[in-house]
Amino acid sequence: MSRELHLAGFLIASHVTHSHAAWRHPGSETDYLGPGYYRRVAQTLERGKFDFLFFADLLATPVRYGNDIRVPLRSGTQASATIDPSLVAAGLANVTDSIGLAITKSTTYFHPYEVARIFGTLDHLSAGRAGWNVVTSLNQAEAQNFGLDNHLGHDERYERAHEFLEVAFKLWDSWDADALVRDKASGVFADPDRVHIVDHSGTWFATRGPLTVPRSPQGRPVIIQAGSSPIGKEFAARWAEAVFEIDPTPEGRRAYYDDIKSRASDFGRNPDDIKVFPSFVPFIGETESIAREKQAFHNELADPVSGLITLSVHTDHDFSRYDLDAPIEDVAVPGTRGLFDVARRLSVRDNLTLRDIGKLYAQGVLLPQFVGTPAQIADQIEAGFHGGEADGYILSAAQAPGTFNDFVDLVVPELQRRGLFRTDYTGTTLRDHLGLGPANLSPATRAVGARAGR
Ligand SMILES: Cc1cc2nc3c(=O)[nH]c(=O)nc-3n(C[C@H](O)[C@H](O)[C@H](O)COP(=O)(O)O)c2cc1C
Repeated sequence: MSRELHLAGFLIASHVTHSHAAWRHPGSETDYLGPGYYRRVAQTLERGKFDFLFFADLLATPVRYGNDIRVPLRSGTQASATIDPSLVAAGLANVTDSIGLAITKSTTYFHPYEVARIFGTLDHLSAGRAGWNVVTSLNQAEAQNFGLDNHLGHDERYERAHEFLEVAFKLWDSWDADALVRDKASGVFADPDRVHIVDHSGTWFATRGPLTVPRSPQGRPVIIQAGSSPIGKEFAARWAEAVFEIDPTPEGRRAYYDDIKSRASDFGRNPDDIKVFPSFVPFIGETESIAREKQAFHNELADPVSGLITLSVHTDHDFSRYDLDAPIEDVAVPGTRGLFDVARRLSVRDNLTLRDIGKLYAQGVLLPQFVGTPAQIADQIEAGFHGGEADGYILSAAQAPGTFNDFVDLVVPELQRRGLFRTDYTGTTLRDHLGLGPANLSPATRAVGARAGR
């Protein structure tokens, strides 16, 4: 197999996914506050030889839309109830053997020492399967939950994030790989010459070190990112080994792919060392018309206002003050700019109103829907994989675990028959699955050839 397709599953540790309708779907299971739900999804994806299971995370109940939490709570909008994904992942490490476990932690609301410790621990507990989705967080409500009046400005958040990763990398590097001696006979536990003080004192953080967690199997987690603004993509190009992307159009996905790969080259990195994962929601049927019926049934459950609540959360802008039946206005948003740009682009292209955008957002946060028989879904994946838009895909569920079961039972065998996807794991760590070499603990510090206009 020459170039290998990668697959990941998307979850939020909650009742919904990208689809705000997921919790209302009759096929969805309801034990998402307990361990069984996550265990079933993780074990199913592991049976399907997926690279990793990914957990997004948000740190506040939605309040941005009309300064109200009643409607999002009542309608089960995304983030209206979530549990902590790091603890879910630690539990999953115990009931899976091979699948990677990637979770989201914010560089804006935590300290690098705590986060480095969490991921060092998860990497040990999972024997080298940890991944970190590095986010800078989105909105004011999150700031207020962490004792701050104001969310940091967009670009400042990224400045802080760069230093956060520098510190985390130093902490993971504070234990040499051979520092742990564990010689019972001589009584030497660790070689103190191989454990290093960090003594970092910077703009945002100070830490003495060393980390309490000895060097983990992968050295550090695989770094995942989803920056969609130019400065966010620059951050990804420097640090990320996998990027997660939302764009409903093939031309948008191809442009993102080329952009990320060339930005990585600018940092002197091999573009193959940063895997691009667009996301989609599959609707799979024995025939195309059965698949379309499943899609229509699901989409009918999506409430446009619930979608606009999440658009307001993601952009940190209150969309309750606009006419639902007018086109979406071009406004400056302090949250995620990339997703807002996608919404604007769609709205202009297809003449969509704010209500239409809300509906698309509730159906799946602007994710494309791949609809058809297993062979038709595989065709779309194959076309994107060979057509310059993806190294792999992140699958988001319209109902869970049902969407994952169907994909693993019906589409994965088709991808394997075509020689696109592995029939078994060939390594043990998440880095192995992604085809990444040993972890670098001294990342690129600046772009080799910064280009104008970005
Ligand atoms: C596909 C995608 C997924 C994201 N997932 C999360 C998440 O789970 N939690 C979070 O706080 N931010 C998430 N974000 C936000 C980004 O990681 C980033 O912090 C934010 O988008 C601001 O940067 P940007 O303007 O470069 O997009 C996501 C963004 C995108 C585009």
